[in-house]
Amino acid sequence: MQRLEIPVVSYNARTAAFMTARGFHRDGCGVWRDAAGHSFAASLAGKEAPAAATRTWGCQMNEADSETLRGQLREMGYVDAPVDDEADVILLNTCAVRGTAADHALGEIGRLKRLKTERPELLLGVCGCLAQMPETVEYLRRHAPHVDLIFGTNNLHDLPGLLQRAYRDEAQTVDVWDQAPETVENLPSRRAPGVKAWVNIIYGCDKFCTYCIVPTTRGRERSRRPGDVLAEVERLAAEGYREVTLLGQNVNSYGHDLGAYDFADLLRDVAQVPGIRWIRYTTSHPRDFTEKLVRTIGLHPKICEHFHLPVQSGSDRVLRWMNRGYSRARYMELIGHVRRLLPHAAITTDIIVGFPRETEEDFLQTLDVVREVGYDNAFTFQYSPRAGTPAARWEDPVPPAVKKERLERLNELQYAISRRKNQALVGSMQEVLIEGPSRKDPDVLTARTRTNRLVLVPKREGVVHRFGRVHVTEAQTWTLYGSLAEVEPGV
Ligand code: SAH
Ligand code: SF4
Ligand code: F3S
Repeated sequence: MQRLEIPVVSYNARTAAFMTARGFHRDGCGVWRDAAGHSFAASLAGKEAPAAATRTWGCQMNEADSETLRGQLREMGYVDAPVDDEADVILLNTCAVRGTAADHALGEIGRLKRLKTERPELLLGVCGCLAQMPETVEYLRRHAPHVDLIFGTNNLHDLPGLLQRAYRDEAQTVDVWDQAPETVENLPSRRAPGVKAWVNIIYGCDKFCTYCIVPTTRGRERSRRPGDVLAEVERLAAEGYREVTLLGQNVNSYGHDLGAYDFADLLRDVAQVPGIRWIRYTTSHPRDFTEKLVRTIGLHPKICEHFHLPVQSGSDRVLRWMNRGYSRARYMELIGHVRRLLPHAAITTDIIVGFPRETEEDFLQTLDVVREVGYDNAFTFQYSPRAGTPAARWEDPVPPAVKKERLERLNELQYAISRRKNQALVGSMQEVLIEGPSRKDPDVLTARTRTNRLVLVPKREGVVHRFGRVHVTEAQTWTLYGSLAEVEPGV
């Protein structure tokens, strides 16, 4: 085991040094202001109370990063822009995992050109995983000069300095780091309203699956120190948060760089934090998944019995080409531990179809695994070549129409299984966290079960963000329906 010795620094200390050197101090609300009372944001934008908007693509880690961006914007003194037309700063936090994700972000960058032409004082920033790719930076340099600022995932905590440079410099400001030279703690975060919070526990990924861009966009694996994670969870509990989701591209490698303290130990310790009711985590890589982890989850009722265990393929040779580091038999052994120790746990997965040279026979093995495990849900993707990854250079005789058809067949099978699994819950009582009004129907509330299923219940006043129990009366492929049998008092 190699110890990575990445220094840990405090966001607060560093930002305080930056701000005080420029004559700013924190006011009672935590906003940086100068002696005349103007916020740092006002000094940048040249107007009082400038507004900012952020947009996010990608995974939960990107969502969490956007909360950090918004936390920094608030401390600088930006207010929320209700619409883009009223924004002084727009930050696009992008994803690069598949071509479609990249295309969405690039399309949005193109559309914002009109706004920037109408209002040249608008500051447009592009960050996140796509910005970590040299080809994107080159593309934006050439084709999107209306983008003022490009920065990456490894320096998003430097937002005040980055914005200051982008306002000052005539040319496009580009500052992207290949690696994180340090782990930054005490990051400000502006979380979504409610009682659920994301908590990063490990950054980066060292697995280098041959199709995946993430090790490039997120750098080497580095675990946060257990004490820092636990302090954050304790703070969240004190602020009224009741559910935490521990985040990492591969939470099961947590601690490899720390010594004899692993993810199961961290889960056990997070489960001791008073006030936290439910603990979730994502994503588990099968390679580092242990029976100890399943046992730990079984021992602590706060840890939700939901395993997201991406299989990617059911064919051993495809798994080898993917560099996943497990065989189908080993994967099924892990599923066996879960089924044996926690028979009521939900199991979900990610699957890629149409990997280069995947044959019909390989694909049928994937369908086999799907049937054999009986996943509660699966995120299914058509393989998308990503520049810079090994698989993107490999010959790929599989025609796109065949890949598309395989995806449809896989989805058809999985939808039937998901529906059957949901229907088996009709008549049962499920513990839920009530989230809020449904976007489609204000007379309906959405709630989540411990296994992360969506349940719709008729609206009742005063129950949002509380835990309760639902009697399930009806089930469809994606959704359960029911009635609230009991609701716990609020906190
Ligand atoms: N760290 C997580 C996954 C992160 S990306 C893990 O290893 O499980 C989320 C999912 O996107 C992956 O599980 C994979 O199924 C899919 N994915 C990643 N790269 C892809 C590519 N090039 N084409 C298609 N799907 C891809
Ligand atoms: Fe990508 Fe593999 Fe790392 Fe997941 S484990 S982020 S799929 S390289
Ligand atoms: Fe996308 Fe980056 Fe997440 S590539 S999936 S936002 S780690």
